[in-house]
Amino acid sequence: MRLKSKTPKKYRDESWDYRKADTKPYTHCFHSYPAMMIPQIAGRILDEYAQHFNILFDPYCGTATSLVEANIRGINAIGTDINPLARLIAKVKTTIIPLNLLDNYIEEFNNFILSIKLGKEVNTEIPKFKNIDYWFKKETIIILSTIRYFIEMIKDKDILNFFKVAFSETVRDVSLTRNGEFKLYRMPSKQIEKFNPDVYSMMFKKLLRNRSGMEKYIYIKKNNSASYIYDFNSVYEIPKEIISDESIDIILTSPPYGDSKTTVAYGQFSRLSNQWLCFEKNNEVDKKAMGGFREREYKKFNIEILDETIEKIGEKDNKRVLDVISFYNDYEKSINNVSKVIRKNGIVAYVVGNRKVKGIEIPNDKITVELFKKNGFNYVNTIIREIPNKRMPKKNSPTNEAGKTDNTMNCEYIAIMKKR
Ligand SMILES: C[S@@+](CC[C@H](N)C(=O)[O-])C[C@H]1O[C@@H](n2cnc3c(N)ncnc32)[C@H](O)[C@@H]1O
Repeated sequence: MRLKSKTPKKYRDESWDYRKADTKPYTHCFHSYPAMMIPQIAGRILDEYAQHFNILFDPYCGTATSLVEANIRGINAIGTDINPLARLIAKVKTTIIPLNLLDNYIEEFNNFILSIKLGKEVNTEIPKFKNIDYWFKKETIIILSTIRYFIEMIKDKDILNFFKVAFSETVRDVSLTRNGEFKLYRMPSKQIEKFNPDVYSMMFKKLLRNRSGMEKYIYIKKNNSASYIYDFNSVYEIPKEIISDESIDIILTSPPYGDSKTTVAYGQFSRLSNQWLCFEKNNEVDKKAMGGFREREYKKFNIEILDETIEKIGEKDNKRVLDVISFYNDYEKSINNVSKVIRKNGIVAYVVGNRKVKGIEIPNDKITVELFKKNGFNYVNTIIREIPNKRMPKKNSPTNEAGKTDNTMNCEYIAIMKKR
């Protein structure tokens, strides 16, 4: 008798690794950001599960990877993020700008740079934020202020945002922060001495790169679908005037894996850009993020796998465990809220990682499935993929001690659920 082969619900599938894929096609090249989803994952989920769907929601949209992929497939998209920089990038990546208009402004910028180099003087204002001299050399501050002067003159909102995105990445690249770190660490002084970035040409190259990304996006997106970016926090509520109950076909997202303090500090990553762009309340990003240490009390979730994990961490460290509880408290509230906006037979795809705290792995993928099951969803499957590049913080601080790291999160889990 031949045994029927049945794919298990949770399985490793190398074809989801996309080892050699170009992960920055069209507008995905616009700006780096921590823990970005790769477009191939978003696109494949949509192709496999969202044929004929009309509307996607991403409650942790970051730089809009899922929104862009939805839009090129003719699916409208709604995204929200608490980080103003992420919202800016998301907006620009999903907004088509006519190339001739863009080219005019890029040429004008080029002429502006030439005139400055030839001695033209402009009335620039140096921003006043704490430690600006610590993070930027004096000459860099002057040039960045001059570029900002040009940007502030731009009247067209879409062009203004387009320039702001290139400027934001330039700010990060010319700052004295160590490359490849999400958190803000200063370069060693020897490196600082030798560090003399050509700020104008870096900004100009980014504008050209992004212009080319826009051209490819215009070519690939031949429909009228659109994206709408908001600033609400699904932990508290999803405003009914923005998304009504049971109106969403698919939720596709990669939520944070833990609190900002010990996993990815989105606020810290974005701080210098946010300060140069004068986004208000930048310092609140990490506080507002999930697990921002609001409620720090011991509690049970009545989810066996989560309660067991909490108990094990609690035995090792009864303070650190409160950070984990605080995160899952918010995570649970958010899942309760997003569950309501999905329609019957709608799909939820959560791309998550399992981190370690105090040496204990938190099975975030299983916890996610259990939380959705409690909210009227059936479990469809979980695909395990390896993270081939340095996009994720493979090394984090599970002990929460400076300098101590551990290899975690080499895998990502794509958990799929369907509303009953
Ligand atoms: C893993 S990133 C998403 C990356 C995104 N998929 C992309 O490709 O760019 C998680 C995002 O969640 C945001 N975030 C954290 N807590 C949040 C909350 N309570 N509400 C909304 N967004 C939140 C962070 O600012 C961050 O941008």
